[in-house]
Amino acid sequence: MNILVLGGGGREHAMAWKAAQSPLAETIYCAPGNPGMAQLDKAECVAVDAEDFAAVRQLVQDKNVAMVLVGPEAPLAAGIVDALADTGAMVFGPCKAAARLEASKAFAKEFMARHNIPTAPYAAFTDATAAKAYVERVGAPLVVKADGLAAGKGVTVAMDNETALQAIDDAMVTGVFGDAGSQIIIEGYLDGEEASILAFSDGKTVVPMASSQDHKAALDGDKGPNTGGMGAYSPAPVVTDALMARIQKEVLDPCVAGMAADGSPYIGVLYAGLMITKKGPEVVEFNCRFGDPETQVVLPRLTSDLVEIVRACCTGTLDAIALDYTSDACATIVMASEGYPASYPKGRAITGIEAAEADESTQVFHAGTGLKDGALVTTGGRVLAVTAQAATLEETLKKAYAGVDKIHFDGAQFRTDIGQKAFRHG
Ligand code: AMP
Ligand code: GLY
Repeated sequence: MNILVLGGGGREHAMAWKAAQSPLAETIYCAPGNPGMAQLDKAECVAVDAEDFAAVRQLVQDKNVAMVLVGPEAPLAAGIVDALADTGAMVFGPCKAAARLEASKAFAKEFMARHNIPTAPYAAFTDATAAKAYVERVGAPLVVKADGLAAGKGVTVAMDNETALQAIDDAMVTGVFGDAGSQIIIEGYLDGEEASILAFSDGKTVVPMASSQDHKAALDGDKGPNTGGMGAYSPAPVVTDALMARIQKEVLDPCVAGMAADGSPYIGVLYAGLMITKKGPEVVEFNCRFGDPETQVVLPRLTSDLVEIVRACCTGTLDAIALDYTSDACATIVMASEGYPASYPKGRAITGIEAAEADESTQVFHAGTGLKDGALVTTGGRVLAVTAQAATLEETLKKAYAGVDKIHFDGAQFRTDIGQKAFRHG
């Protein structure tokens, strides 16, 4: 079948790369894709914006697309699944109503409260004065979050009241997140180690993928501003088998059952961002799609056929599918532009990708890359992700960083401590 992948980041490169391994996949169209995706055997990039629904519809019809894999949250939140419903293609992702789990934090918190899904206590505000009064009353530590989509940057973890008050001003008075910040939620601070659980859902059955851990802060030691994610590894030893069983029972099952009971069955990837606290798993956020960069470490470990799994999700037959993983560890290191997540330069020449990929267990997933006069240059904040796989995490990290050492662009920044938390678990 012909497949369409929407998006053009590292996550989408990993999705297209994995889908291309399926014997079911004929041509994989990527809209808009990126230069890394363009190099995949079965892939063809088309200059269509994933958020231009009319153009995407046309593409699905013109290219006889049977399956659409939606990468980013924006088209899902805007209703791409609803918009393509009558094309006959299997569109993998939640409908607009179900995507509110990510698109509105107030919706997600209210949903979790109603369905007894463990998460921090919270209050929602549309008025800055009321929000500030709440901060004065409850007191830090608190977490201030813009309600809407803000590319992972709308969250301030405030260890003191001043920081919380400033975050309220930024979101609601200065408006740095635009409309996304016109409503905010303020929630209790959760202490623990984070983990990401991505799960496949067909609306009734929800099957977790291998655990992983993201590194959201820009700098080593979890310092600096929050980013989209600077690296990841899988499996995450903080998620023991016993904990995974609790996550299934306390988070994933009630979420999918609750969405169905509320009339918007959840089909697609359900991403639970969790804090593993002393009490157990607590939901920090739900996302309505694969994680970036978690996908770049979870899909390489998946030995089952992604296209078969997606087909099962779209046809309500996920209960008949088993997911298999290699016992290898996988890690990915994001190389970002100088200045990211604030403003950054573009157009810097990138070299060394081929040298990094000379090691056959190393794969470079492109994100913010482009071609200028035939040469590869930086075009985004997160430029690429160097992924490696090996029997142990230690060996994996060595390989991944060896790959990073071979790649060059001016001002490249990356964290040097990806995966280190895993070693605390012995
Ligand atoms: P979010 O976009 O909601 O995932 O938040 C981004 C990051 O902020 C998370 O990955 C956490 O590191 C941190 N964070 C969010 N909510 C909390 C919380 N309630 N307690 C502690 N840290 C949090
Ligand atoms: N890695 C965080 C996210 O995909 O939202």
